[in-house]
Amino acid sequence: MIPHLGEKVLYLSRADVAAAGPTMHEIISALEGMFREKGEGRTEMPPKIGIHTMPDAFIHAMPAAIPRQSAAGMKWVGGFPDNSKRSLPYITGLLILNDPETGLPIALMDCTWITAQRTGAATAVSAKYLARADSTTVGILGCGVQGRSNLEALVTIFPLKKVCAYDTHLDRAERYAQEAHAGYGVEAVAVKDPKLAVVESDIVVTAGPILRKPHATIQRGWFAKGAFASLVDFDSYWHAEALREVDKFTTDDVPQLHHYRDVGYFQNIPPIHADLGELVTKRKAGRESPEERTIACNLGLALDDMAVAPLIYGQAKEKGIGNWLTL
Ligand SMILES: NC(=O)c1ccc[n+]([C@@H]2O[C@H](COP(=O)([O-])OP(=O)(O)OC[C@H]3O[C@@H](n4cnc5c(N)ncnc54)[C@H](O)[C@@H]3O)[C@@H](O)[C@H]2O)c1
Repeated sequence: MIPHLGEKVLYLSRADVAAAGPTMHEIISALEGMFREKGEGRTEMPPKIGIHTMPDAFIHAMPAAIPRQSAAGMKWVGGFPDNSKRSLPYITGLLILNDPETGLPIALMDCTWITAQRTGAATAVSAKYLARADSTTVGILGCGVQGRSNLEALVTIFPLKKVCAYDTHLDRAERYAQEAHAGYGVEAVAVKDPKLAVVESDIVVTAGPILRKPHATIQRGWFAKGAFASLVDFDSYWHAEALREVDKFTTDDVPQLHHYRDVGYFQNIPPIHADLGELVTKRKAGRESPEERTIACNLGLALDDMAVAPLIYGQAKEKGIGNWLTL
């Protein structure tokens, strides 16, 4: 029962969201369920629209509905690359959750935590279908928020033993490696050469800045046979020749990828094998042999956020977290 429908909205600060927060395991399950719904054509998600107040920055409106998960609402999220110079997060914003039957707003929450967790979880869902189940080594390139949530998600479903961390700031990679070792009991090393984080890894996550013109650090011959990579920062890290070695290139939403391509991203990627909804519903094959090289380039969908927001709302109400505001 919703206690104050039409009268009050539950406000959840960044700390409230994290305190209410569902586990990574629950988030991965919610996303997998959502991608099944998407694959069956039972979700609604108009294309992202946005405004751009600074170069390379965006504020996007991301509405979505997942009827089977009683989820409807919109994220209003900004990404400002220069924020780090002011010690502010790159990603910030708010999410409004609506009651699907009446349209009334029921919760307003900070979306920083949700964005981090759902992006890591999307990597894990892709990896479930595309990585080798016996993957034990991970290379993380870009040791920030996404580097952390992606590892948290991967640790949840793979028997990981070793993490190789690379960041353009070595001290960040070192801190990351210490945290990974302390948090997950894995062997973790910071490396000075990005190649070392790629060549021996069963799973590679690239999570540096997103660029229209890739810096193309990862060269042909680096990405091992049988490995899987999640391109959280789009194709920015990958040389076109390296991408051509890949057997299966996938994404979370093909129309959205085409949109990005139309505005200047993804000028040199291989053909798209499948979207994640097609993998989850088995309309298209995931990994078919231990030798395949596979990639997920998940762009981040409003549907990801909407799959998680009702879990946060439900758990916050149960635990008495947040403040009820009068509408
Ligand atoms: N695909 C999605 O769904 C999705 C969602 C959220 C964020 N992102 C993207 O993920 C990326 C990381 O976001 P974040 O919140 O973790 O940022 P962050 O600022 O927390 O971390 C980025 C890290 O990358 C490092 N870095 C910069 N250039 C690098 C390079 N060339 N190689 C290695 N490391 C480098 C920085 O030092 C920093 O430690 C951004 O590009 C963001 O746009 C994607």
